[in-house]
Amino acid sequence: MLILGIESSCDETAASIVRMVKGQRLEVLSEVISSQVDLHKAYGGVVPELAAREHLHNLPRVVSVAEERAGISIESIDLISYTRGPGLKGCLLMGDRFAKALAITNGKSLQGVNHVEAHLLSPMIDNQELRFPFLGLVVSGGHTELYIVRGLGCYELVARTIDDAAGEAFDKSANLLGMEYPGGAKLALLADSIGSSRYKLPAVMTERPEFSFSGLKTAISLMIKREGEYGDRAELAYSIQEAIVSAIIRKVAFATERYGIKEIAISGGVSANRRLREELANIKGVNLFCARSLLCTDNATMIAFLGGLYEQQGDDNGCSAQFDRLKMEVRARWPIIQLN
Ligand code: KG4
Ligand code: ZN
Repeated sequence: MLILGIESSCDETAASIVRMVKGQRLEVLSEVISSQVDLHKAYGGVVPELAAREHLHNLPRVVSVAEERAGISIESIDLISYTRGPGLKGCLLMGDRFAKALAITNGKSLQGVNHVEAHLLSPMIDNQELRFPFLGLVVSGGHTELYIVRGLGCYELVARTIDDAAGEAFDKSANLLGMEYPGGAKLALLADSIGSSRYKLPAVMTERPEFSFSGLKTAISLMIKREGEYGDRAELAYSIQEAIVSAIIRKVAFATERYGIKEIAISGGVSANRRLREELANIKGVNLFCARSLLCTDNATMIAFLGGLYEQQGDDNGCSAQFDRLKMEVRARWPIIQLN
């Protein structure tokens, strides 16, 4: 089955063409990502209206580059899989209308899939040995969620953040250190340049199962203010990274004990963090599965993969005909424990 994946939920317009054969490793034929980071930098975050307009320009372009690189044109595609939600409504609408127009004009099957679910299953793309059930941790700029993944479409929420996402904690701290948005990876790089720090941050939310970063954010902001221009930036970055990582590790370690599941699959932008990977792999008895770095951040390969899994299973997302799929609207909020 040849699948065209389309992603447009936030500030990346992406298209991938993949070949999916049951029981075989996914073959990625092309993977195109057009990032809007430069456009939003000046505002310190994503501006929804600008992002939507940019998707409108970029969608036809990324799809035609994906076709060119794969040497495959739309006529040969069997399925178009796109992000139906969650995300910024205007951005989702651009991808939704574009995917539907392509499907109608070329008479193709359509799957509208969940972006967080796509992240959650993305470590399966390159790790064929990963089997259900596993603990799935999604850590990105918008999400910090831990699930027991029992099967396709069967997810049990273990913990989610009650305030900020882990990526936001990284980005806001990086901003306080004077780094450009999104500064998470830059902060991590600076932190990794040294091996210790004289600055200490408190352990947060130790007695509850949920994730929370707002108390830590206040402590970080106070620490940076206190140290001012005399503080050592690398040491500050080091303490911040250690504090965010250990806030995540505590909850995951607790869940591995509580549910007796030692397979952990991590996804989302923050899952690229070296220290997070190191510390997760250090949890007793854990078998850690990661996605390759391009698949950690937003991409269309994971969207194509998930749409393909549903199509293979013969699942029509609760719709009886292609006609109904065309009527499905985007969902800016869409928890994956109630998928339909
Ligand atoms: O998954 P993603 O591309 O977008 C969302 O769906 O949110 O994740 C982006 C987030 C940003 O907050 C970025 O700063 C963070 O992932 N990030 C990192 C690293 N690389 C990306 N955070 C910490 N360490 C990294 N190496
Ligand atoms: Zn994402």
